[in-house]
Amino acid sequence: MAYEPVLLRHVGHPEVRTVAGYRERGGYRGLEQALTMEPDEVIEAVKDSGLRGRGGAGFPAGLKWSFIPKETDQPKYLVCNADESEPGTYKDRILMEEDPQQLIEGCAICCYAVSANTCYIYIRGEYVEQAEILEEAIRDAYQAGVLGDSVMGKGFKLDMYVHRGAGAYICGEETGMLESLEGKRGQPRIKPPFPAVVGAFGCPTVINNVETLCNVPHILERGADWFKQIGTDERNTGPKLYCVSGHVERPGTYEYPIGATLNQIIEGCGGMWRGRQLKAFIPGGASAPMLPAEFADTPLDFDNLAKAGSMLGSAAVVVMDDQTDLVRSVYRLAKFFNHESCGQCTPCREGTNWAELVLKKIVAGNGKPGDDELILRICRNMGGTTLCPLADAAVGPLRSLVQNFPDEVRAWLDSDGALTPARQYFSEGVTV
Ligand SMILES: Cc1cc2nc3c(=O)[nH]c(=O)nc-3n(C[C@H](O)[C@H](O)[C@H](O)COP(=O)(O)O)c2cc1C
Repeated sequence: MAYEPVLLRHVGHPEVRTVAGYRERGGYRGLEQALTMEPDEVIEAVKDSGLRGRGGAGFPAGLKWSFIPKETDQPKYLVCNADESEPGTYKDRILMEEDPQQLIEGCAICCYAVSANTCYIYIRGEYVEQAEILEEAIRDAYQAGVLGDSVMGKGFKLDMYVHRGAGAYICGEETGMLESLEGKRGQPRIKPPFPAVVGAFGCPTVINNVETLCNVPHILERGADWFKQIGTDERNTGPKLYCVSGHVERPGTYEYPIGATLNQIIEGCGGMWRGRQLKAFIPGGASAPMLPAEFADTPLDFDNLAKAGSMLGSAAVVVMDDQTDLVRSVYRLAKFFNHESCGQCTPCREGTNWAELVLKKIVAGNGKPGDDELILRICRNMGGTTLCPLADAAVGPLRSLVQNFPDEVRAWLDSDGALTPARQYFSEGVTV
């Protein structure tokens, strides 16, 4: 697919990590433009562009910014979500590594629009190198007058800090992140109140994903109409990063207009690994329900994936070939969710544990007819019953395994413990 990258246009140009290098390649024009506008006009432009959050839920960014109260003496904050802990997701990492000034510019525009004078970039603990790159880029932005007491000499004050997490999936959930930022255990808060009203340190706070914010300078520079032309329709607009892993020839982070299909993405990755056939794929990270190969021509955007019974999520596309054991794959994901459940809500704490145990029993060759129903029952007890969506995330792969791939599960359950050679291999080391 012929497409000129927007977000990844500076990949391979390390000179853009400095303000001077970034400006030389056209950077900071979006911020310059924003500073000539009223804050409300900036919010309107982002609203008009149709930009939806790239962190998982797809909430319209401009609308979120408009919820920040104007008539208040409280300080306001932007917290940039750079936790990126959804398995299979590594797009924000590339953005921070390859083009940190683009993120700083996006954050600065958002802060100006909502009158926030402080921005925290909350980055996952494992991203040591990326945190150092960002810190260096922020230092340079202060020296160049992009940050500090008067952003670009226009009198707007902005301070920016990198805050490192300690490596917990739940701290990617926005209110768990706020707790962690405040130095507490990263357990989600009850909503409402929403962070736009009561956020960091009890003050109005915008929380946006790295990729969401990286889109913002381009909207200001080139206009909402330009942005809207990219994508499937007016509800699914702009460039999108897809992190492709699994059975393709060249896994990696690829940029397309939002709504590229899996077939287009696989082609861009050099095809299926060793020319194998596609069996299934996860379109949006571990939480997104798995889809069968028939959906390979579905546009991978918010609405088309919802219609297909899955979600765009973090756009981590996991491609699984015809030799993949889906039950064992989902067992691995169940282990992840059990490990990462913060334990605050009983249905999630218990449910993720039960899901892991039942799947462990199955892949050890001890599954019984009816275990598929048991998995669905666990899903019913977890879904929609908790403070945050981690339980729903855990349900995604489980329910889609049983509902979309019933034969895969039954093949394990009907085996009566007699494992085929492939299953014997997969079961190695799994005991109950
Ligand atoms: C368990 C869990 C983990 C999450 N992890 C991340 C994450 O790593 N990065 C992210 O941007 N959003 C993550 N989210 C979504 C955030 O809660 C929030 O919706 C997002 O940061 C909002 O930004 P956006 O509107 O720009 O997408 C997670 C949500 C849940 C429930």
